[in-house]
Amino acid sequence: MASTQMVHMNQGQGETSYARNSGIQNALQNRMKPLIEAAIAELCSSTNTLFPEKMLIADLGCSSGPNALALVSIAVEAIHSHCLQLQQPPPEVCVLLNDLPDNDFNTVVKSLVTLHQSNEPAVVTVGIMPGSFYERLFTSGSMHLFCSLNSLNWLSKAPEDLTKNWIPAYDVDEHARRERFPVVLEAYAQQFRKDFTFF
Ligand SMILES: C[S@@+](CC[C@H](N)C(=O)[O-])C[C@H]1O[C@@H](n2cnc3c(N)ncnc32)[C@H](O)[C@@H]1O
Repeated sequence: MASTQMVHMNQGQGETSYARNSGIQNALQNRMKPLIEAAIAELCSSTNTLFPEKMLIADLGCSSGPNALALVSIAVEAIHSHCLQLQQPPPEVCVLLNDLPDNDFNTVVKSLVTLHQSNEPAVVTVGIMPGSFYERLFTSGSMHLFCSLNSLNWLSKAPEDLTKNWIPAYDVDEHARRERFPVVLEAYAQQFRKDFTFF
């Protein structure tokens, strides 16, 4: 069955929620800061284009809790400090957060309001975009920056070659597992290549 119908991170803010159990992913997000800042600098100083007056940015596979806003917040801050350096008025920024429909968007929406308010008087509008990032989410050419972290390792589905032959990703029988290892590996690699093309 497709992963889009099956799974989501633990919802809410309780002890077992993703919000309270995603410290490792958050540490990785912080390591993205220089990359996002470099992407913003390149975007804003491209000699071929005028300084954008409006920018649309999205996080693909945002989940919920503090991590949901981390990458886009880094991007918004980078835009504002870049503009300050250039003594340019900041562009209007629209932030869109994407995840699968079963994601805990209720929690996300509440924190989006805070992001919107904490950036005033600069114009930062916010929204959510539920759906799979392996399908079309936005009109073509409309976005300036995509961020995504810890999400692309989710395939759209288990490889068909394995499911139709009832081959599990991990066989408890060690002999069978060793024997099928190259087949399983290739099936997952192929599914990833297919998915990544759609991404
Ligand atoms: C481990 S969480 C990562 C969340 C956040 N980016 C972080 O770094 O903490 C992976 C997220 O990707 C989402 N995801 C997986 N496949 C997806 C797809 N095809 N389209 C959109 N979101 C997807 C999951 O629902 C989940 O919330």
